[in-house]
Amino acid sequence: MSNNNSKWWQTGILYQVYPRSFQDSDGDGIGDLKGIHRRLDYLEWLGVNAVWISPIYPSPMADFGYDISDYTDIHPLFGSMEDFDALLQAVHDRGMKLILDLVPNHTSGMHPWFLESRSSRDNPKRDWYIWQDARPDGSLPNNWLSVFGGSAWEWDEHTQQYYYHAFLKEQPDLNWRNPGVQAAMFDVMRYWLAKGVDGFRVDVMWHMIKDAQLRDNPPNPDYQPYMGTYQQLLPIYSTDQPEVHEIVRRMRGVLEEFDRERVMIGEIYLPIQQLVAYYGTDNQGAHLPFNFQLLMLPWDATQLSAAIDQYEGALPAQGWPNWVLSNHDKTRIASRVSLLQARVAAMLLLTLRGTPTIYYGDEIGMRDVAIPFEEVQDPQGLNMPDKNLSRDPARTPMQWDNSENAGFTEGKPWLRLDKAYSRVNVRAQKEDPYSMLSLYWRMIRLRSQEPALMEGKYIPVYSDTQVLSFMRQQEGQASFLVVLNLTHRPCYFRPPGFSFKGKVEIATTPEMEGSAVSSTISLDGDEGVLIRLENG
Ligand code: GLC
Ligand code: MG
Repeated sequence: MSNNNSKWWQTGILYQVYPRSFQDSDGDGIGDLKGIHRRLDYLEWLGVNAVWISPIYPSPMADFGYDISDYTDIHPLFGSMEDFDALLQAVHDRGMKLILDLVPNHTSGMHPWFLESRSSRDNPKRDWYIWQDARPDGSLPNNWLSVFGGSAWEWDEHTQQYYYHAFLKEQPDLNWRNPGVQAAMFDVMRYWLAKGVDGFRVDVMWHMIKDAQLRDNPPNPDYQPYMGTYQQLLPIYSTDQPEVHEIVRRMRGVLEEFDRERVMIGEIYLPIQQLVAYYGTDNQGAHLPFNFQLLMLPWDATQLSAAIDQYEGALPAQGWPNWVLSNHDKTRIASRVSLLQARVAAMLLLTLRGTPTIYYGDEIGMRDVAIPFEEVQDPQGLNMPDKNLSRDPARTPMQWDNSENAGFTEGKPWLRLDKAYSRVNVRAQKEDPYSMLSLYWRMIRLRSQEPALMEGKYIPVYSDTQVLSFMRQQEGQASFLVVLNLTHRPCYFRPPGFSFKGKVEIATTPEMEGSAVSSTISLDGDEGVLIRLENG
């Protein structure tokens, strides 16, 4: 249905699997590769095109796999390399793609590279990490903070220097200015690409290069005590350095050694103007620098419509947009904007121009789950215990059915499930035409059949403090008008000087479907409609 020049990662939909929590196959309470394999039929039915799996490599699990001790193997918790190969094959057999998480900014402190590096000051791998002397008065090399709390510098008794860690002290940052580091990580990429992996989601891409002089970060004038301590400073010297773009371009070059179908997605939390630089000069950077606007901005029609327009306007020519509603680091959409409003959000995600990423479970309206204090596992939560920053609530096991543990495991789940799972689960929602899952399924289906929704132009129509609306249009194809009420109160859609005629194709409230609409629409609170426009 798409034009011949489009790539699968432009027309398709990405789905993020958090492997610990998707499906357990061996009763240890932790999701694994065989479990994901078993659920591929579901993903195929749902209609998503590519699966991104958070890290599955050997790891001491200080940060649940984002602390890697071997980049080219599989953690036994998740299975074996045979399991991985079988999964990859099964994904491909279904015409789908598999994307791995690549974590190049830091390794585990237990990675052999770091063990060597810390063994002595003259070890050949010493410079693979960021080592610094104390200042003459014995204090820290600079004021940089760790995202997970405290200083980003850790003292090493043995060699009498500090090393830098943007995250946990168990996650030392690699020195990407070192050519050996670059070559080693490019080989890691080649290993997986040669196996046939379809691309990478690159972890904390904007962190990879730090200021060569390691200058102090300035204070953040907008810091509030409820925020993580990391936000006390503006990380202008520790992140998003100009030299990072050359690294990103080289990584892209590694992908292109294979073929032009592999994709590079960058995890980048930056304002739009800085974000779009990651497409690279002549789009030779990341294919999809993750756009987290929907996840970061207040859920407000005026602000979101401005951000969408700003993003559309800032994209480089030929740069392809993308949108994300939730991920394993942030509050789930249903908990952030309410369950009813999450239906509107789903409609927004699946009708904006650009590749959508769905976080596992959002399609059934999973919410953040209250995790009793004694059960908190996420280091971000444990390290700043008074701030309620644990990411566990958004990482709970997938709710498949109403059997024990929602069909996730026959053992004891590593993290407790939502107590509502017997009502809120895939099986129940599949049978309910009004469920969140049915809404997702129908939106995904329509999107994959309509070129205007997949690739058409984005044309803003009207927005105010309640309504957000836009059209999607493609030459010679049906056009669509999307009208969303982003509030809980009823509202009117009466755009001055804009006339239209059409029929509601999909609505968050199914009673609207099939009705003819023109000139004015009144919407209930939390209501959104997708209108197929009549020609002319
Ligand atoms: C990314 C990951 C997050 C992890 C961090 C450090 O932000 O998404 O889960 O904790 O990087 O690797
Ligand atoms: Mg298991």
